[in-house]
Amino acid sequence: MYVCLCNGITDGHIREAAMNGCDSLRDLRRELGVGSQCAKCARHARQVLRDTRSAV
Ligand code: FES
Repeated sequence: MYVCLCNGITDGHIREAAMNGCDSLRDLRRELGVGSQCAKCARHARQVLRDTRSAV
């Protein structure tokens, strides 16, 4: 499912980034560009990140 429409980023992309060490929205923005445009995705992206990190 798409999380960041502006950049075509899915929850799978975010999970993979989280598994590879991203642990903040800033990291996600740097790695994938999430939230770099309209930023409407920020809340959802943070939630996916948090869920993934807590499941590790
Ligand atoms: Fe992510 Fe717009 S939906 S920056």
